[in-house]
Amino acid sequence: MEKKRDLPVEGFKTKGVEAEVRDLVKIYKMGRGIEVQALRGLNMRVEAGEAVTIMGPSGSGKTTLLNIIGGVDVPTGGSVIVGGVRVHELSEKDLEDYRLKMVGYMFQAFNLVPVLSALENVELPMIALGIPREKRVKRAKWLLKLVGLEHRMNHKPTELSGGEQQRVAIAVALANDPPLILADEPTAELDTENAMKIVDLLTSLSRKYGKTVIVSTHDPRIATRTNRILRIEDGIIKGEHKPIELEQPPHKARLSDLVEVIKLRIANLEKELEKLSQKLVNKEITPEEFDKEYTKIKALITGYKELLSSLGH
Ligand SMILES: Nc1ncnc2c1ncn2[C@@H]1O[C@H](COP(=O)(O)OP(=O)(O)OP(=O)(O)O)[C@@H](O)[C@H]1O
Ligand SMILES: [Mg+2]
Repeated sequence: MEKKRDLPVEGFKTKGVEAEVRDLVKIYKMGRGIEVQALRGLNMRVEAGEAVTIMGPSGSGKTTLLNIIGGVDVPTGGSVIVGGVRVHELSEKDLEDYRLKMVGYMFQAFNLVPVLSALENVELPMIALGIPREKRVKRAKWLLKLVGLEHRMNHKPTELSGGEQQRVAIAVALANDPPLILADEPTAELDTENAMKIVDLLTSLSRKYGKTVIVSTHDPRIATRTNRILRIEDGIIKGEHKPIELEQPPHKARLSDLVEVIKLRIANLEKELEKLSQKLVNKEITPEEFDKEYTKIKALITGYKELLSSLGH
C-alpha cells in the first residue's frame, strides 16, 4: 500500500482497482457449539473501474461479503485481493491503513457521527489521513457539493432526511479518494426520487471517475444500471447477469434476458410471500415481523412490475 496519499482539493485522482475473492468462507461461532456458515466458498472477480451489483435474499451473505472485502471483518478461509493487496493476510494495523486509503464504505446503517455536522463528518477520514485543516475543509465542501448538499453543511445527521444522510455517507466514503467503493443496500430506506439520486451518484463514480463500485441491493433500479449483477444465495455466487442500460436504446436479445431475470425474481418473491404466510400460520414469526417483511417484499414486487411495464411487458 502507498505510504501517503495527497488528496486533491477538488475531484479524484485515484482510479479503481480490481477485486478478486477466492473460496471465501465465513463461519460465525455463536457459542454452545452453534455455528452459522454465512459464506460457503464464494468466488467473484470485479474488474478495475467496473460497477457490480450483489443481489440476493435477506441472510444470503451480502453484508458479510462486503465487510470482508472492506476489511472490517476477517474471513474464516479463502482469499481477498484488492489492487494487489492480500487483504486476508493483513495485520490489524495494516487493515486500518487499508480501510483508510483503499475503501470507501457506505454501511447498511449510515454510520454518521451524530454530534458532528455533515461537514465535520466528511472531514473525519481526512483527519485520520493527516490532511491539514484548510485543505480538508475545502475538499469536504467540494464533496458535499458533489452530492448536492452544500446548503446542508452545518446540519447534524438528525437534522437531515434519510436521503440526505445517505448522501453525506457517500461524501464520507469518497473523502480519501479510495479506489474501491462499497455500498450495502444504499437505497433500502429511500423513496424513489432519493433512491435514484443515490443510484446516479454511485454509478457515476464508476463511469465518470473510473472507481470500482460494489453495491449490495434488492433494488432493481440500481442493479439494472451497473455493469453486472452477481446473484448470491446461501453464501455463494449462484449466477451472473448482464443488465441492459435503461438509458440506452435497448438491444433486443439483452432486453429479453432482463425480462426473464425480472420475471424469475418476481416468482421467487411470490414464493417468499407464501413461505412468510406459512411462518405466520405456524407462529414462527410475530404478526409485527410478518407485516414488516410482507410490506418489504410487496414493495419489491411492485418495483419489479413497474420495471417490467416500463420495458413494455
Ligand atoms: N455477527 C453475526 N453472528 C452470527 N451470525 C451472523 C452474524 N452476522 C450475520 N450472521 C448470519 O450470517 C448470514 C448472512 O448474514 P448477512 O448479514 O451477511 O446477510 P445479508 O445478505 O446482508 O442480509 P440482509 O439482506 O438482511 O441485510 C445470516 O444467516 C445471518 O443470520
Ligand atoms: Mg445485509
